[in-house]
Amino acid sequence: MSKTSENLASAFAGESQANRRYLAFSQKASEQGMEGVAKIFRVAAEGETVHAHNHLRNMAGVKETAENINAAIAGETWEIDEMYPGFINKAQEEGDKKAEISFQWAIRVEKVHQEMFQAALAKIKADETVKEAKYFVCPVCGYPAKDEAPDFCPICGTKKELFNEVL
Ligand SMILES: [Fe+2]
Ligand SMILES: [Fe+2]
Repeated sequence: MSKTSENLASAFAGESQANRRYLAFSQKASEQGMEGVAKIFRVAAEGETVHAHNHLRNMAGVKETAENINAAIAGETWEIDEMYPGFINKAQEEGDKKAEISFQWAIRVEKVHQEMFQAALAKIKADETVKEAKYFVCPVCGYPAKDEAPDFCPICGTKKELFNEVL
């Protein structure tokens, strides 16, 4: 790997994190009634997304869709089998309850993502169309529901009305 390929990977990671960090900062500014600042954070966040996508494309990180789904399955599977179990154990060992819950919620949602991607890949391989459906995502734990939001999130108990529809 050339130094520039390494730099693209590192810039992609940094810009991706900056995007999420700025969106969280924007939300906080809104909660504090500072809408002007909130918007500045969203403007910067959107630019960081453009940079992250440019870097990813230029490191050949975006392939054809079937291959991208394979990459997604590999990522989710690694998080489920390797990353989160170790992180959960360590959080328990260190008595960090908040981190443990954060990891537990994530691993349970990653399993749903893994299944969604596996089902989509199976359809593509069978030359079938993956039909567009309605989806709702829990704003607390990330749980995705198809067709309709559940009365209460099966992972964290959040109420139906708070789920966000993915457009
Ligand atoms: Fe995931
Ligand atoms: Fe949830």
